[in-house]
Amino acid sequence: MKQYSKRTALMHWVIFVLVIVAFYFGHELDESKDAAAKLSMYPVHFLIGNLVLLLTFLRIYFRKKDGEPAPANANPLLNKVASLTHVLTNLTVMAVVVTGMITAATSGVVEALKAGDPALIPDFHKVDAKEVHELFIGIMLLLVVFHVAAALYHQFVVKDNLLRRIMIKRFED
Ligand code: HEM
Ligand code: HEM
Repeated sequence: MKQYSKRTALMHWVIFVLVIVAFYFGHELDESKDAAAKLSMYPVHFLIGNLVLLLTFLRIYFRKKDGEPAPANANPLLNKVASLTHVLTNLTVMAVVVTGMITAATSGVVEALKAGDPALIPDFHKVDAKEVHELFIGIMLLLVVFHVAAALYHQFVVKDNLLRRIMIKRFED
């Protein structure tokens, strides 16, 4: 097996896009001064974030069921670093979503949404869980930067075609 299964690869890229969209809405929510617009953005941010968690579980299930390619490096230590990075990335994505849920649940934003009243939107600076949400977002970004740098290093410096492993398109050789 030289590639992740088609459905595992598909999930990897769907999650990638959803994380970017969730990040965009989170950032807009933090910056925006338009309370009415914020009220309509919260459900989108929550929904996409929760979808990321669901699809991450699904991708892990697909990977276990369909199998995965043999480790990419000749050096066992590098293989350990790679699998540790993958585990940590998955765990951090999960932590971002869970701390997001806790932020929503403890802030009072749900009441604002239920009442449909922008005036009830809480001051998130006073919500401790939001700091933790931000902390995990930062850790996730660092891990993803490292992950992408490693993937590009393999692809263009080692020239071992690593990206093929996670492509949806199937290759014969
Ligand atoms: C992959 C998933 C997610 C990403 C990438 C993400 C990203 C973000 C970002 C970048 C912010 C702004 C942080 C800042 O700089 O202050 C934010 C804020 C927030 N997020 Fe998330 N988030 C995710 C999932 C969730 C989920 C699932 C929920 C709740 C169910 C949630 C609830 C919140 C809340 C309540 C805020 C505060 C919004 C405000 O300040 O008005 N997030 N998120
Ligand atoms: C939100 C962004 C991303 C996340 C959370 C993420 C996460 C992961 C995880 C957890 C794996 C391990 C396989 C698995 O558990 O199913 C993986 C594999 C992989 N990812 Fe990503 N990834 C992201 C973005 C990217 C990007 C932008 C690239 C390309 C430049 C990339 C290239 C790869 C490659 C080549 C593999 C296979 C590595 C191997 O087989 O050793 N990823 N990714």
